[in-house]
Amino acid sequence: MFFTLIHTIHLLAAFVYGGFLFTDILFIQKMQKGLPAEEGAACREAIMVHVRKVVPYALFVVVGTGIVMFPTVFGKVGPDGLTTMQTILLVKAFFGLWLGIRGFNQKIFKINPWLFKSHYFPFGVVVLIIILSQIMWAF
Ligand code: HEM
Repeated sequence: MFFTLIHTIHLLAAFVYGGFLFTDILFIQKMQKGLPAEEGAACREAIMVHVRKVVPYALFVVVGTGIVMFPTVFGKVGPDGLTTMQTILLVKAFFGLWLGIRGFNQKIFKINPWLFKSHYFPFGVVVLIIILSQIMWAF
């Protein structure tokens, strides 16, 4: 029951975090480009004021709940070494933690990313993580 609760929170928070990245790339950035520079920046800022209050915390919840679930799902390493599922989960957790550390630095320490600065990077990573989360059970 506890696992199901954490798993559900993980998914909902991933939905909020990933949902913003999708919305930004598919709609908000295009809206901004379609408007005169000043008006576009003002419209984006009017949305971002609300985004900053929710989305970084959703990312922290995704990472926190992921860390809580990790030991249960990963299990023990058998005598034959890592299973395919464990390997894929490790790759997925690596990318998730990367996003989490990046977001934490940005929100808490005001350190902006040095690499892959646009939202296309986290967007791509979220797509990859979702695919990995599904295929890890296929083997
Ligand atoms: C932005 C980052 C992340 C996203 C978008 C994300 C997304 C997802 C998704 C879509 C699932 C599949 C749930 C299902 O199909 O039922 C999942 C499950 C899971 N995630 Fe994450 N995750 C993220 C970060 C993390 C991190 C950092 C960890 C661990 C350190 C983690 C550990 C897990 C575990 C253990 C599961 C359960 C596997 C299962 O039972 O299906 N996640 N996550």
